[in-house]
Amino acid sequence: MCLKTPVNKTSDLASFTAQNTAFLARSDLTPRVCNVCLNSEKVPHNWKGFFLYFGNVLVKQGRSETAKIVYQQAKLSPTYASYPCKNILERNIENADARAKGFGNPDVGQQPQMTNVSGAQCMMCHQTR
Ligand code: HEC
Repeated sequence: MCLKTPVNKTSDLASFTAQNTAFLARSDLTPRVCNVCLNSEKVPHNWKGFFLYFGNVLVKQGRSETAKIVYQQAKLSPTYASYPCKNILERNIENADARAKGFGNPDVGQQPQMTNVSGAQCMMCHQTR
């Protein structure tokens, strides 16, 4: 949505990263677009949280390869080093294949816990410290 272009379903890491890097370098964005797409005072980790959330949804769908490309985009944020949910993101990258497989289990009780409904569900974007 921020890029105003559909996400290519066969996107590779290099081209998606280049698109997002170019977006972050733009200086012509309106405040409205900045509020929704970038980090702000109210949402200090919006960029990272968005890609963490998006990757989690893809893993839930079993699409771990695409999820890994999406998760990597969080790292483009200039404040990634201080991201409080960095450990979750990195663990989810590492475990993407296993988690995607786990979500395929017909016994819902045996499926992995969804990050998007854990304590991180709001804090992945809104945590201030
Ligand atoms: C993917 C990142 C993301 C996640 C996850 C997220 N938010 Fe937000 N939230 C935002 C953005 C971006 C805005 C600001 C939108 C704007 O300014 O137009 C916002 C705004 C808000 C606001 C309004 C703040 C204000 O003072 O205007 C509240 C309240 C809020 N979110 C609560 C929540 C809650 C509760 C959750 C968890 C259920 C949550 N958010 C999860 C990104 C996120």
